Amino acid sequence: MTKVLVTAGPTREYIDDVRFISNASSGRMGYAVAEAAIEAGHEVVLVSGPVERPAPAGVTFVRVTSAVEMRKAVLNAFSAADCVIMTAAVADFRPAHRTSGKIKKADAKLTLDLVRNPDILAELGRRKERRLLVGFALEAGDGERNALEKLESKHLDYIVLNSPSAIGAETVDATILGRDGSRIEMKNASKARIARKIVSLIEQE
Ligand code: CTP
Repeated sequence: MTKVLVTAGPTREYIDDVRFISNASSGRMGYAVAEAAIEAGHEVVLVSGPVERPAPAGVTFVRVTSAVEMRKAVLNAFSAADCVIMTAAVADFRPAHRTSGKIKKADAKLTLDLVRNPDILAELGRRKERRLLVGFALEAGDGERNALEKLESKHLDYIVLNSPSAIGAETVDATILGRDGSRIEMKNASKARIARKIVSLIEQE
């Protein structure tokens, strides 16, 4: 049995107490991976951003809101993990300051100052040792070349490439690229099928 750490969903980066920056990630992919890993008999920790779905039965569930919180929860679970599958759509930027209360519409224009969030997966890549790391890449343009660059620069074992239309979708076209040069193309596949494929790949390692 392998200890699998899965991240899922978006993060929320609060501007004030009622507004936030986020994205349309539904968490479907990550929850499907967690379910597939449980079905295959693995121990699963699921770190999830805010999504409208129940925690899959059998997982250790950690709910987070922001990228900074996700990083903390992931690093907590990382030392015990054999494998990390990072499906979360982590917001790359957060407001430099969170205003307490609610920003009033005093002026005609409002400029938000954003700062970079930590790249969680890149940090895991630097500390991976014997662990397996699987990342996701959402690419609009020359996807494969960018995904391969991420595979290399983040020290991943696999990267799952899909297009922005995958966000929230039921079925997607995905290409799973391996460190060893392997390439698996899945057309119009359900997220459950892609999840089972990912789990079977990590089992082969
Ligand atoms: N990721 C992360 N921490 C971040 C951003 C992304 O761990 N702050 C992870 C995601 O979970 C995903 C992978 O990194 O597995 C995506 O890589 P990234 O380079 O962030 O992709 P994009 O957001 O598409 O990056 P870019 O805008 O540079 O194309």
